[in-house]
Amino acid sequence: MARGRSGSGQRSGRSKPSNPYRKPDRFTQQAKDEGYAARSVYKLTEIQKRFRVLAQNQRVVDLGCSPGSWLAYVAQVVGGRGLVVGVDINEPKVQPGPILVKSVLEVTPDELLEALGGERAHVVLSDMAPLTTGNTDADHYAQIELATRALDLATAILAPGGAFVCKVFDGEDAHAFVQRVRASFAETKRVRPEAVRQNSREFFVVGKGFTGPSERVGAEG
Ligand SMILES: C[S@@+](CC[C@H](N)C(=O)[O-])C[C@H]1O[C@@H](n2cnc3c(N)ncnc32)[C@H](O)[C@@H]1O
Repeated sequence: MARGRSGSGQRSGRSKPSNPYRKPDRFTQQAKDEGYAARSVYKLTEIQKRFRVLAQNQRVVDLGCSPGSWLAYVAQVVGGRGLVVGVDINEPKVQPGPILVKSVLEVTPDELLEALGGERAHVVLSDMAPLTTGNTDADHYAQIELATRALDLATAILAPGGAFVCKVFDGEDAHAFVQRVRASFAETKRVRPEAVRQNSREFFVVGKGFTGPSERVGAEG
């Protein structure tokens, strides 16, 4: 997520290296120039370029949508006849469609389907991350809980053939999570977009061709 610039952004040769999370990079600058609420948008634009998960007129659910860069981008792609529904514990700055301000651990499939106008979703996205503690294992388990909830919601509301894009913090349970995605989608890929910070353990799993929650339990490739 985008963070503010501190000071001039210039470093002298004698100063300590800055915190990598606070250092403005080309994606932060690009997001500012293009009017997006967060640099995270470029993770999704790369995924879209490579896997074509989004298309005009689709119904899309964005879990963990605040501050709203994915919402803004998805709204452009799906256009005026599409629909994007967002869920987050924090209200996003951008609201191109219905927003449920609550935890994904509380939101129900029925609430999402209602926000979708009673129709199933073509795509479910999740860029959810917990507040990180610095304890890699604890952060991994907390994030996998969110990713697992995202997958459960996706399998409850996706239309056959639908797609799922989900952030994962790598760690002990990541492989099992990817296997669960693989069991419900015809095609599954792991991807680490260029905009992911170098020191981050995150990657994305992209599932295309939703087949249903219990088909194709196969090996990870
Ligand atoms: C990396 S940010 C998402 C950035 C967003 N994709 C964008 O482009 O603006 C992660 C989001 O996950 C949300 N989140 C964390 N735990 C959540 C939960 N239990 N339910 C819903 N959202 C949650 C956070 O509030 C935060 O807004």
